Amino acid sequence: MPEPVLNPAIRVDGVSLTFGGATPVHALDDVSLRVEPGQFVSLVGPSGCGKSTLLKLLAGLVLPDAGSASIEGIPVAGRPGSAAFMPQRDLLLPWRRTIANAALGAELAGVSREQARSEARSLLPSFGLEGFERAWPAQLSGGMRQRLALLRTFLVPRDVMLLDEPFGALDAITRREMQQWLQAVWTEHQRSVLLVTHDVDEALVLSDVVFVMSPRPGRIVHRVDVPFARPRSVADTTTAEFASLKSELLDALEAAGRPVRRVEVSERTTRPA
Ligand SMILES: Nc1ncnc2c1ncn2[C@@H]1O[C@H](COP(=O)(O)OP(=O)(O)OP(=O)(O)O)[C@@H](O)[C@H]1O
Ligand SMILES: [Mg+2]
Repeated sequence: MPEPVLNPAIRVDGVSLTFGGATPVHALDDVSLRVEPGQFVSLVGPSGCGKSTLLKLLAGLVLPDAGSASIEGIPVAGRPGSAAFMPQRDLLLPWRRTIANAALGAELAGVSREQARSEARSLLPSFGLEGFERAWPAQLSGGMRQRLALLRTFLVPRDVMLLDEPFGALDAITRREMQQWLQAVWTEHQRSVLLVTHDVDEALVLSDVVFVMSPRPGRIVHRVDVPFARPRSVADTTTAEFASLKSELLDALEAAGRPVRRVEVSERTTRPA
């Protein structure tokens, strides 16, 4: 019997979006991408190019002017909550303890409070939060807060996760530890992930596929398929293959951001041959 054809976990087709207002901002321009079930895909691009906007669109929080997007085959427009979404700021509620913050997303998605808290409790050790069940967010380190925000996202009963710079605020060493840890958690739970990051090394360590976006209006300008076996470690980042893919990504980012050099063209045309 032929294998059943699975819908892509995420599908974005020709999406364009301009924020209205006194000065309209053209944020996304004809963006298309796919994330297959179980894939880990990253999106890298310069600040302000529309990465968070694309994730918000997939989370059903903003609508495109053109094009369409779907999660597991179902259009997201006007349907928030088809994917678990970790926004760029961790948004922990300061008046909720660790366990209550962790369970919040699942509760909002319809899981009973008791079940959400019991699942959260059982995952505290693998998220490095054992013993902190009753701590307030203010009593947690930056890394712990981000692991708690990730735990909250993990507990939302959805197969697709949208992670917006989950390690943005961390120092390099903690960031590396968190990448290793996220890789292990992802391997164990096998979700489909779209991760936004500024960090090309992070994208290469974690992803099956990396998409590069241009400066605003954001377009997908390059795709890299990452061939390294898993689990990947820091040692992999020192190989020649890693260096070569990294420079390919950096070149794509640089080329996308380079202004069109009209001056050079006019110089050439006015200069004597
Ligand atoms: N609600 C909004 N109204 C108007 N403009 C917005 C809104 N949200 C975002 N923008 C603008 O859209 C553009 C893209 O923003 P977005 O947050 O998606 O960028 P980003 O790629 O996530 O940047 P960063 O890497 O700094 O997080 C920016 O110019 C931003 O100012
Ligand atoms: Mg952003």
